[in-house]
Amino acid sequence: MASQNIYILGIESSCDDTAASVMHNGRILSNIVANQKIHEEYGGVVPELASRAHQQNIVPVVAQALKKANITKDQLHAIAFTRGPGLMGSLLVGTSFAKSLAYGLDIPLIDVNHMQGHILAHFIDEDGFEKPPFPFLAMTISGGHTQIVMVDNYFDMTVIGETIDDAVGEAFDKSGKILGLGYPAGPEIDKRAKLGNPKAFKFTKPKVDGLNFSFSGLKTAILYFIQNETKANPNFIEENLNDICASIQYTIIGILIDKLKLASKQTGIKHIAIGGGVSANSGIRQALKDGEQKFGWTTYVPKFEFTTDNAAMIAIVGHLKYLDGEFAEQNVAASARLKI
Ligand code: KG4
Ligand code: ZN
Repeated sequence: MASQNIYILGIESSCDDTAASVMHNGRILSNIVANQKIHEEYGGVVPELASRAHQQNIVPVVAQALKKANITKDQLHAIAFTRGPGLMGSLLVGTSFAKSLAYGLDIPLIDVNHMQGHILAHFIDEDGFEKPPFPFLAMTISGGHTQIVMVDNYFDMTVIGETIDDAVGEAFDKSGKILGLGYPAGPEIDKRAKLGNPKAFKFTKPKVDGLNFSFSGLKTAILYFIQNETKANPNFIEENLNDICASIQYTIIGILIDKLKLASKQTGIKHIAIGGGVSANSGIRQALKDGEQKFGWTTYVPKFEFTTDNAAMIAIVGHLKYLDGEFAEQNVAASARLKI
C-alpha cells in the first residue's frame, strides 16, 4: 500500500469487545479481541458492565497486540481509536486510553468512525481477499447496525438506508430469545436453519419506504405466532425448531436482499460489500452468491475476524488517515451518535 514503514495501533471499545491491533503498511500483524462473556447471562449488552470490563481489559489487550506484532510501543507512528458511534461508557475507555498513550509517546492521534471501520475493513491487505473498486455499496449488518452506504472513495461515503428501529442482529437475537435459545442467537438460528424448511412458516415483511429497514415488527409477529401456536400445542417450539429458525432466517435475508436490489437499481452500482457479525450467516452469503448470477453483482465478504467488531478495521482507517495527514486534536471527545 505505501512505501513508507508505518506502524499503527488500532483500538476499538465501542460496544462489548475490547480490541487492539497493530498494522504495518496496511497488513495486520496482530488482531486481539477480548469478548465480554458477562453479557450472555443478561441476554444482551449491559452498558455499565461493558465499560467496567473495558477498563479491566484495555491495557492487557494492547500489551498483547504489541507482543504478538513483535514490536515495542516506541515503534508506533500513530494511535487510531474508535470515537463513535457506540455506548458512551465504552467509548470513553478506549478514547481516554488512546489519548493518553499518544500523548505519552508524543505521536499523532487519529479518530475513527466505527461504521467507516466496518466498511474500510475491506481494504486490509489480506491474501485471497479482493478489495472492492469505487464506487461500491456497503451493507453493514450486526447486532448494533444495519446500514447501506454508497462508497465513492475512502472517506466519501453516503448513508442511503438504515434501520429505523432494531438492527438485523437484534432481529436474530430477539427471535432466538422468544424460542428459548441462548444469546447471541444468530449462529444457532443459522445452524438450525440449514436443517429446516425456510417456507414452513410465513412471516410478513415490514413495509418501509425506500432503502430504510425495520425489524421490530418482525420480532412482534414472531412473538404472537409462537404464543398462538404454543397455546394449541405446548411442544410446538421443540417439534418445529429447525423449521421456525429456517423461516425466520429466510424472512430476514429476504428483507436484506430486497433492499440491496433496490439500492443497486437506484444507484446503478453492482459491486456489493458486506460487513458486521451477521455477514457470517450462511444464508446471506448464499443469497449474495445467487445475486452474482441473478443480478450481475460482484460481492465482497471480508475475512471473518475483520467483520465482527475488531481493531484491525480501526487500524486500517488509521493507516489511510495517516497517509492523508488527518490527525485528531488533543481535545477530541468520544461521540455516541457520530455519523458517517
Ligand atoms: O459485529 P458483531 O460481532 O457485534 C456487534 O453487534 O457489533 O455482531 C454480533 C451479531 C449478533 O447479533 C449475532 O447474533 C449476529 O451478529 N451473528 C449472526 C451470525 N453470527 C453472528 N447472525 C446470523 N447468523 C450468524 N451466523
Ligand atoms: Zn460494529
